[in-house]
Amino acid sequence: MARILTGVQSTGTPHLGNVLGAIKPAIELANDPANDSYLFIADLHSLTQIKDGNLLRNNTYAAAATWIACGLDTSRSVFYRQSDVPEVTELAWYLQCMFPYSRLGLAHSFKDKSGRLEDVNAGLFGYPMLMAADILLYDAEKVPVGKDQMQHLEMTRDVASRFNHKFGETFVLPEVLTRESTMYVPGTNGGKMSKSQGNTINIFDDPKTLKKVINKEIITDATPLEDPKNPNSSVVYNLFKLVSSENDALEMANALRAGGYGWGHAKKALLEAIVDGYASERSRFNELMANREEIDFALAQGSARARVVASDVLSRVRSKIGY
Ligand code: TYM
Repeated sequence: MARILTGVQSTGTPHLGNVLGAIKPAIELANDPANDSYLFIADLHSLTQIKDGNLLRNNTYAAAATWIACGLDTSRSVFYRQSDVPEVTELAWYLQCMFPYSRLGLAHSFKDKSGRLEDVNAGLFGYPMLMAADILLYDAEKVPVGKDQMQHLEMTRDVASRFNHKFGETFVLPEVLTRESTMYVPGTNGGKMSKSQGNTINIFDDPKTLKKVINKEIITDATPLEDPKNPNSSVVYNLFKLVSSENDALEMANALRAGGYGWGHAKKALLEAIVDGYASERSRFNELMANREEIDFALAQGSARARVVASDVLSRVRSKIGY
């Protein structure tokens, strides 16, 4: 039995990178009876970027609907909203007091934005310690994430070790779980798919919008239709192989290499793979967003279950510190 934990921010509707890099792998682990799992919407982390309550709430629904639409069985996992478990902010404070300021300054989440310090709030600086608290508060053992979160996991292990060293064994040191094939899903411009880059694909979009995004935003080179092309250096193919069967991907790779198969053909195949491949997720997502009581109910139950474990671990921490 392993305890799995992961979270997704509520900064928008989760995109294909979130789905393939974290949500689907976490659901597979959660549905395995050998594991118990803690899956949550990191709406406190989102506050570092979003200051509009309505938008935050809406995004939280969209993130929750994504988990459920992608196949999460909410009765088997502890599925909750981060802000419903206030214990996490207390633990984050303790961890911040144990961690060097200079190391937090090296976090990519902060460094990427530190060029414009006037836009950086203190929450963004302390972000990795809130994430460490998310994980350590539940004695999580395995944390499935994309590549961009690996540094945060190292910081989590670091602060847990420092605490254990100073106060005696308190925290479980979590392991990061990544999948080579999906830990870095490219966006439409070839860089990492990320909301802040504006290069995302939203699998729940209607087919017309998806068509526009795929045709207009995915970059291709100017190789003429009849010429052979290198599939591996193309964004369309690299995305296609993530959303299609091995056979279909091989067929496309061969067609591109042979020539006479253009980027337009490849984009059409990618569009079909996303529209058809995620049809049931799309309709479930829309159903949940139109009827949010089901989400409210699942999150309320999950939060109550999460708090039982959280308050237990937090008592352990308080007494170790000497409160
Ligand atoms: P967030 O919300 O940015 O992303 C959620 C998950 O999606 C993964 N991901 C990707 N994977 C592959 N390719 C991509 N292009 C891609 N983009 C995003 C992320 O690696 C992540 O696993 N700080 C976290 C949320 C968080 C968390 C936690 C995660 C808060 N507390 C505790 C795990 C454990 C974040 O901002 O993820």
